[in-house]
Amino acid sequence: MDYSGDLASIQQQLAACQDMDDRREIVMQALDAQPGDRVLEVGCGHGLLLQQVANAVGGTGLAHGVDLSADQVDAASRLCADLPQVQVSTGDVVDLDLDDASFDSTVSTQVLEYVGDVDTALEELARVTSPGGRFVNVATNWSALFWAGGDEALTERILAAWDLHCPHPNLPVALPNLLQRAGFEGVEQTPVTIVNRRFVPELFGWGVSRLMVAFAEGSGAIDAAEGAAWISSLGEADIQDRHFLSSVPILTVATRGISSRFRY
Ligand SMILES: C[S@@+](CC[C@H](N)C(=O)[O-])C[C@H]1O[C@@H](n2cnc3c(N)ncnc32)[C@H](O)[C@@H]1O
Repeated sequence: MDYSGDLASIQQQLAACQDMDDRREIVMQALDAQPGDRVLEVGCGHGLLLQQVANAVGGTGLAHGVDLSADQVDAASRLCADLPQVQVSTGDVVDLDLDDASFDSTVSTQVLEYVGDVDTALEELARVTSPGGRFVNVATNWSALFWAGGDEALTERILAAWDLHCPHPNLPVALPNLLQRAGFEGVEQTPVTIVNRRFVPELFGWGVSRLMVAFAEGSGAIDAAEGAAWISSLGEADIQDRHFLSSVPILTVATRGISSRFRY
Protein backbone atom coordinates (compact mmCIF):
# COMPACT_ATOMS: atom_id res chain seq x y z
CA MET A 1 0.00 0.00 0.00
CA ASP A 2 1.56 3.28 -1.14
CA TYR A 3 0.86 6.13 1.28
CA SER A 4 1.05 8.86 -1.37
CA GLY A 5 -1.57 11.25 -2.75
CA ASP A 6 -5.12 10.61 -1.47
CA LEU A 7 -4.02 7.64 0.67
CA ALA A 8 -1.49 9.87 2.45
CA SER A 9 -4.24 12.45 3.16
CA ILE A 10 -6.64 9.78 4.51
CA GLN A 11 -3.85 8.27 6.64
CA GLN A 12 -2.93 11.72 8.01
CA GLN A 13 -6.54 12.34 9.08
CA LEU A 14 -6.63 8.93 10.77
CA ALA A 15 -3.32 9.63 12.55
CA ALA A 16 -4.78 12.85 14.00
CA CYS A 17 -7.76 11.18 15.74
CA GLN A 18 -8.18 10.87 19.52
CA ASP A 19 -7.34 7.14 19.65
CA MET A 20 -4.04 7.77 17.86
CA ASP A 21 -3.30 10.71 20.19
CA ASP A 22 -3.78 8.36 23.14
CA ARG A 23 -1.54 5.80 21.50
CA ARG A 24 1.24 8.34 20.87
CA GLU A 25 1.22 9.09 24.59
CA ILE A 26 1.79 5.38 25.35
CA VAL A 27 4.54 5.18 22.71
CA MET A 28 6.24 8.26 24.18
CA GLN A 29 6.19 6.70 27.65
CA ALA A 30 7.71 3.49 26.29
CA LEU A 31 10.35 5.41 24.34
CA ASP A 32 11.29 7.51 27.39
CA ALA A 33 13.29 9.96 25.25
CA GLN A 34 15.46 12.30 27.30
CA PRO A 35 16.87 15.77 26.54
CA GLY A 36 19.88 15.37 24.25
CA ASP A 37 18.86 11.92 22.95
CA ARG A 38 19.13 11.04 19.26
CA VAL A 39 15.95 9.25 18.17
CA LEU A 40 15.09 7.74 14.78
CA GLU A 41 11.49 7.21 13.66
CA VAL A 42 11.04 5.08 10.56
CA GLY A 43 7.77 5.46 8.65
CA CYS A 44 7.18 8.79 10.38
CA GLY A 45 4.11 9.63 8.28
CA HIS A 46 3.21 13.30 8.57
CA GLY A 47 5.21 13.72 11.76
CA LEU A 48 2.86 13.91 14.75
CA LEU A 49 5.00 11.50 16.82
CA LEU A 50 8.22 13.01 15.47
CA GLN A 51 7.09 16.42 16.75
CA GLN A 52 6.54 14.98 20.25
CA VAL A 53 9.90 13.21 20.14
CA ALA A 54 11.54 16.50 19.13
CA ASN A 55 9.98 18.27 22.10
CA ALA A 56 11.22 15.51 24.43
CA VAL A 57 14.84 15.52 23.15
CA GLY A 58 14.95 19.33 23.02
CA GLY A 59 17.39 21.57 21.17
CA THR A 60 20.43 19.47 22.09
CA GLY A 61 18.91 16.25 20.74
CA LEU A 62 17.92 14.92 17.35
CA ALA A 63 14.57 13.61 16.07
CA HIS A 64 15.21 12.05 12.67
CA GLY A 65 12.23 10.86 10.61
CA VAL A 66 12.45 8.62 7.55
CA ASP A 67 9.54 7.69 5.30
CA LEU A 68 9.24 5.97 1.93
CA SER A 69 6.60 8.45 0.75
CA ALA A 70 7.74 11.89 -0.42
CA ASP A 71 4.23 13.23 0.36
CA GLN A 72 4.56 12.12 4.00
CA VAL A 73 8.09 13.54 4.24
CA ASP A 74 6.90 16.90 2.86
CA ALA A 75 4.03 16.99 5.37
CA ALA A 76 6.33 16.06 8.29
CA SER A 77 8.85 18.71 7.24
CA ARG A 78 6.10 21.33 7.23
CA LEU A 79 4.72 20.23 10.60
CA CYS A 80 8.15 20.32 12.28
CA ALA A 81 9.51 23.36 10.40
CA ASP A 82 10.02 25.36 13.59
CA LEU A 83 11.94 22.58 15.39
CA PRO A 84 15.64 22.72 14.38
CA GLN A 85 16.34 19.39 16.11
CA VAL A 86 14.15 17.63 13.49
CA GLN A 87 15.57 16.09 10.32
CA VAL A 88 13.27 14.35 7.84
CA SER A 89 14.33 12.35 4.82
CA THR A 90 12.87 10.06 2.20
CA GLY A 91 14.20 6.54 2.57
CA ASP A 92 13.51 2.85 2.95
CA VAL A 93 13.90 1.13 6.31
CA VAL A 94 15.59 -1.83 4.59
CA ASP A 95 18.47 0.39 3.44
CA LEU A 96 18.97 3.31 5.81
CA ASP A 97 21.52 5.92 4.78
CA LEU A 98 22.55 6.34 8.43
CA ASP A 99 25.67 5.50 10.44
CA ASP A 100 26.03 2.46 12.71
CA ALA A 101 24.93 3.05 16.32
CA SER A 102 23.99 6.67 15.55
CA PHE A 103 20.72 6.64 17.60
CA ASP A 104 19.95 6.18 21.29
CA SER A 105 16.55 4.74 20.39
CA THR A 106 14.43 3.88 17.36
CA VAL A 107 10.67 3.76 16.91
CA SER A 108 8.11 2.74 14.30
CA THR A 109 4.32 2.67 14.50
CA GLN A 110 2.29 0.70 11.94
CA VAL A 111 5.16 0.55 9.47
CA LEU A 112 7.04 -2.78 9.56
CA GLU A 113 3.95 -4.72 8.52
CA TYR A 114 4.27 -2.96 5.13
CA VAL A 115 7.87 -4.09 4.61
CA GLY A 116 8.22 -7.34 2.65
CA ASP A 117 11.74 -8.05 3.91
CA VAL A 118 11.10 -7.34 7.57
CA ASP A 119 14.25 -9.28 8.61
CA THR A 120 16.44 -6.82 6.74
CA ALA A 121 14.45 -3.87 8.17
CA LEU A 122 15.10 -5.12 11.72
CA GLU A 123 18.78 -5.70 10.96
CA GLU A 124 18.99 -2.11 9.75
CA LEU A 125 17.26 -0.86 12.91
CA ALA A 126 19.65 -2.94 15.04
CA ARG A 127 22.60 -1.55 13.11
CA VAL A 128 21.71 2.12 13.66
CA THR A 129 20.64 1.68 17.31
CA SER A 130 23.38 2.01 19.96
CA PRO A 131 24.06 -1.12 22.04
CA GLY A 132 21.69 -0.98 25.00
CA GLY A 133 19.37 1.39 23.10
CA ARG A 134 15.64 0.89 22.94
CA PHE A 135 13.39 -0.05 20.03
CA VAL A 136 9.66 0.64 20.28
CA ASN A 137 7.13 -0.64 17.76
CA VAL A 138 3.37 -0.69 17.34
CA ALA A 139 1.69 -3.13 14.97
CA THR A 140 -1.78 -4.64 14.82
CA ASN A 141 -3.00 -8.23 14.55
CA TRP A 142 -5.56 -7.28 11.90
CA SER A 143 -7.20 -10.73 12.08
CA ALA A 144 -8.28 -9.83 15.64
CA LEU A 145 -10.24 -6.76 14.50
CA PHE A 146 -13.92 -7.03 15.46
CA TRP A 147 -16.39 -4.71 13.75
CA ALA A 148 -20.15 -4.97 14.32
CA GLY A 149 -23.13 -2.84 13.34
CA GLY A 150 -22.44 -2.19 9.66
CA ASP A 151 -23.70 -4.19 6.68
CA GLU A 152 -22.43 -7.67 7.56
CA ALA A 153 -21.68 -8.94 4.05
CA LEU A 154 -19.78 -5.77 3.14
CA THR A 155 -17.90 -5.80 6.46
CA GLU A 156 -16.78 -9.36 5.74
CA ARG A 157 -15.64 -8.55 2.20
CA ILE A 158 -13.87 -5.34 3.15
CA LEU A 159 -12.05 -6.88 6.12
CA ALA A 160 -11.02 -9.85 3.94
CA ALA A 161 -9.62 -7.41 1.38
CA TRP A 162 -7.85 -5.46 4.16
CA ASP A 163 -6.01 -8.63 5.25
CA LEU A 164 -4.14 -8.29 1.95
CA HIS A 165 -3.28 -4.60 2.31
CA CYS A 166 0.20 -5.38 3.67
CA PRO A 167 2.58 -8.36 3.60
CA HIS A 168 2.46 -8.95 7.42
CA PRO A 169 -1.13 -8.31 8.64
CA ASN A 170 -0.42 -10.05 11.99
CA LEU A 171 3.18 -8.95 12.58
CA PRO A 172 3.09 -8.92 16.44
CA VAL A 173 2.88 -12.73 16.39
CA ALA A 174 6.29 -13.12 14.73
CA LEU A 175 7.98 -9.94 15.94
CA PRO A 176 9.68 -11.22 19.15
CA ASN A 177 11.49 -14.02 17.29
CA LEU A 178 12.38 -11.70 14.41
CA LEU A 179 13.76 -9.09 16.84
CA GLN A 180 15.90 -11.66 18.65
CA ARG A 181 17.27 -12.89 15.34
CA ALA A 182 18.18 -9.29 14.42
CA GLY A 183 20.11 -8.69 17.67
CA PHE A 184 17.51 -7.29 20.07
CA GLU A 185 16.94 -8.62 23.60
CA GLY A 186 14.40 -8.36 26.43
CA VAL A 187 11.36 -8.19 24.16
CA GLU A 188 8.12 -7.23 25.91
CA GLN A 189 4.66 -6.92 24.37
CA THR A 190 1.57 -5.16 25.74
CA PRO A 191 -1.84 -4.40 24.20
CA VAL A 192 -2.93 -0.86 23.33
CA THR A 193 -6.61 -1.66 22.96
CA ILE A 194 -9.02 0.51 20.98
CA VAL A 195 -12.78 0.27 21.60
CA ASN A 196 -15.14 2.50 19.60
CA ARG A 197 -18.83 2.45 20.55
CA ARG A 198 -19.27 5.49 18.29
CA PHE A 199 -18.56 5.93 14.57
CA VAL A 200 -17.47 9.57 14.54
CA PRO A 201 -14.53 11.51 12.98
CA GLU A 202 -12.72 11.78 16.33
CA LEU A 203 -12.28 8.01 16.60
CA PHE A 204 -10.19 5.30 14.92
CA GLY A 205 -13.02 3.45 13.14
CA TRP A 206 -14.04 6.50 11.12
CA GLY A 207 -10.55 7.07 9.71
CA VAL A 208 -9.62 3.45 9.18
CA SER A 209 -12.94 2.78 7.37
CA ARG A 210 -11.88 5.37 4.75
CA LEU A 211 -8.50 3.69 4.31
CA MET A 212 -10.13 0.26 4.05
CA VAL A 213 -12.63 1.44 1.45
CA ALA A 214 -9.88 3.12 -0.59
CA PHE A 215 -7.83 -0.09 -0.52
CA ALA A 216 -10.77 -2.42 -1.23
CA GLU A 217 -11.89 -0.25 -4.16
CA GLY A 218 -8.34 0.01 -5.50
CA SER A 219 -7.89 -3.77 -5.35
CA GLY A 220 -11.26 -4.40 -7.05
CA ALA A 221 -12.80 -6.16 -4.03
CA ILE A 222 -15.70 -3.67 -3.96
CA ASP A 223 -16.95 -0.83 -6.14
CA ALA A 224 -17.46 2.81 -5.16
CA ALA A 225 -21.20 2.34 -4.46
CA GLU A 226 -20.45 -0.57 -2.11
CA GLY A 227 -17.80 1.47 -0.31
CA ALA A 228 -20.26 4.33 0.21
CA ALA A 229 -22.99 1.88 1.32
CA TRP A 230 -20.68 0.34 3.94
CA ILE A 231 -19.70 3.72 5.41
CA SER A 232 -23.36 4.72 5.45
CA SER A 233 -24.32 1.46 7.24
CA LEU A 234 -21.73 2.19 9.94
CA GLY A 235 -23.18 5.70 10.33
CA GLU A 236 -26.66 4.18 10.73
CA ALA A 237 -25.32 1.77 13.36
CA ASP A 238 -23.88 4.73 15.25
CA ILE A 239 -27.21 6.59 15.21
CA GLN A 240 -29.00 3.46 16.43
CA ASP A 241 -26.40 2.82 19.15
CA ARG A 242 -25.34 -0.59 17.83
CA HIS A 243 -21.87 0.26 16.48
CA PHE A 244 -18.92 -1.58 18.01
CA LEU A 245 -15.28 -1.81 16.95
CA SER A 246 -12.41 -3.32 18.87
CA SER A 247 -8.82 -3.53 17.72
CA VAL A 248 -5.77 -4.61 19.68
CA PRO A 249 -2.57 -3.00 18.43
CA ILE A 250 0.47 -4.42 20.22
CA LEU A 251 3.25 -2.30 21.68
CA THR A 252 6.56 -4.15 21.42
CA VAL A 253 9.63 -2.87 23.27
CA ALA A 254 13.11 -4.38 22.95
CA THR A 255 16.70 -3.49 23.76
CA ARG A 256 19.50 -3.50 21.22
CA GLY A 257 21.78 -6.28 22.47
CA ILE A 258 25.38 -5.58 23.31
CA SER A 259 26.51 -9.08 22.42
CA SER A 260 24.68 -9.47 19.10
CA ARG A 261 26.31 -10.25 15.80
CA PHE A 262 26.20 -6.53 15.02
CA ARG A 263 29.12 -5.90 17.36
CA TYR A 264 31.47 -3.05 16.43
C1 LIG B 1 0.19 3.37 8.28
S1 LIG B 1 1.33 4.61 7.97
C2 LIG B 1 1.87 5.02 9.63
C3 LIG B 1 2.46 6.41 9.73
C4 LIG B 1 2.83 6.83 11.15
N1 LIG B 1 3.90 6.01 11.67
C5 LIG B 1 1.63 6.76 12.06
O1 LIG B 1 1.57 5.91 12.94
O2 LIG B 1 0.73 7.58 11.85
C6 LIG B 1 2.73 3.72 7.35
C7 LIG B 1 3.88 4.64 6.95
O3 LIG B 1 5.06 3.85 6.73
C8 LIG B 1 5.68 4.30 5.55
N2 LIG B 1 6.45 3.17 5.02
C9 LIG B 1 5.98 2.03 4.47
N3 LIG B 1 6.99 1.23 4.08
C10 LIG B 1 8.14 1.87 4.42
C11 LIG B 1 9.52 1.56 4.27
N4 LIG B 1 9.92 0.43 3.67
N5 LIG B 1 10.45 2.45 4.72
C12 LIG B 1 10.04 3.62 5.30
N6 LIG B 1 8.74 3.98 5.45
C13 LIG B 1 7.80 3.11 5.02
C14 LIG B 1 4.52 4.74 4.67
O4 LIG B 1 4.94 5.61 3.63
C15 LIG B 1 3.60 5.41 5.67
O5 LIG B 1 3.89 6.77 5.85
